[in-house]
Amino acid sequence: MDNKTNWLDYDVDEMVRGDRDYLWHHIKPHKVFQTAEQMIIVEGKGLRVKDIRGREYLDATSGGVWSVMVGHGRDSIAAAVYEQLKILSYYAGTVGNIPGIKFAAKLIELLPRLSKVFFSNSGSEANEKAFKVVRQLSHIDPDRKGKYKVLFRDRDYHGTTIGALSATGQMERKQDFGPFAEGFAEFPHMLCYRCPFGKSYPGCDIDCARSLEDVILKEGPDTVGGCIVEPITAGGGIMVPVQEYYPILQTICRKYGVYLIMDEVVCGFGRTGKFWGHDQYDVDPDIITMAKGLASSYMPLSATVFRQNIFDKFLCDPGQPAERMNYFRDISTYGGCTGAMTAALESTRIIEEEQLVENSRVVGAYLLEGLQSLSDMKLVGDVRGKGLFCGMEFVKDKQTKESITEGEMGRLMGLVAAEGVLVGRTNSSLPGNNTIMNFAPALVATKSEMDEIVTAVKRALEKF
Ligand SMILES: Cc1ncc(COP(=O)(O)O)c(C=O)c1O
Repeated sequence: MDNKTNWLDYDVDEMVRGDRDYLWHHIKPHKVFQTAEQMIIVEGKGLRVKDIRGREYLDATSGGVWSVMVGHGRDSIAAAVYEQLKILSYYAGTVGNIPGIKFAAKLIELLPRLSKVFFSNSGSEANEKAFKVVRQLSHIDPDRKGKYKVLFRDRDYHGTTIGALSATGQMERKQDFGPFAEGFAEFPHMLCYRCPFGKSYPGCDIDCARSLEDVILKEGPDTVGGCIVEPITAGGGIMVPVQEYYPILQTICRKYGVYLIMDEVVCGFGRTGKFWGHDQYDVDPDIITMAKGLASSYMPLSATVFRQNIFDKFLCDPGQPAERMNYFRDISTYGGCTGAMTAALESTRIIEEEQLVENSRVVGAYLLEGLQSLSDMKLVGDVRGKGLFCGMEFVKDKQTKESITEGEMGRLMGLVAAEGVLVGRTNSSLPGNNTIMNFAPALVATKSEMDEIVTAVKRALEKF
């Protein structure tokens, strides 16, 4: 191992070669890297990042997947993790540790209607825990016998593992990875711009929410135990349901004894301008999953948070042969990383102390307004969002809403990057519809930084 601590000490070409020779990047067709160079990010502060060639960008993606909530380069998180690692770096989640206890208590303070926190290491895994709880109860709880199925929404994404992918409504993420796990079924999405029922709000009776009941009846109410949704759909195209949506969904879930599982992996920790995405609605989920912004991705950590009455169903007597296996038999090695919980505590402290949720609401509304001011430009079909989480959908024809091609979308992304701003997009998710640009800057964003984003998109559209 060398003792270089500064990226400037490295030979740029050697690193570029190393990237090409050794790394298999996420969700990328690699043939292009035989000729093109992959971007290598080397440092970041706030919203600014720098690549290995010394080019600076405004990161409008919070680290690419909307997760660095408090911005890049926070010394206090690094210092807190360093101090904790010196005391105790790890002990498995089969026992307790101080940062874990403190952060779980913090989460319950933030989610007062829930009461038990299970730590793991990724958003996919957090969702798997929710599915496993639903499934185990379908065996051990006489009131929930056979209720093992989990319903998910078209265009929602819940992770990369086979279980989470089975519960995912994005065909391109699933293609060629089958066969999928049995026990998952889809219900329609809720994007008004492309209403699956061809209707318009408010005269639609919110059929998208009501359609959940049809799917429960079709699958058999005695077989359905859970329904998982993103409060605001992220990777499927920044889709914000109308206010009436979740109360209807919840009423249907309660009617049929279906647990409502809210996947807050993206929306949690202030992304949408409220602490939790579901706080935007009058809804009271039974299980909540979270990752990404939990520790602002300074360290990997996820959590699945349950209602007390769900936890209580697993309180079995180990001395009784008939029930000795009825505890939640699940483990996650990295659910015991004390550094990750310390990072989460410090990141959450920063979010609260610097009032970043309120900043997300105010600066996010400003960003949305700025992006909406481009609505009359060519290609701009729809602009939508909540808080510092916005999407812009591009179409060839505003009347027919025919999407631009993926090639055109790629070119547009390149033009925005050339303006010095990194934005995101629907990526390998929706056949024919990977044409939604997304904006999710860190919650420390300022209005003038939002002006930079809007200007970059405007210039890119002008040059297109
Ligand atoms: C809503 C949602 N849930 C779950 C996941 C999976 O999280 P991870 O990549 O940490 O497994 C993602 C990832 O993007 C996500 O957007």
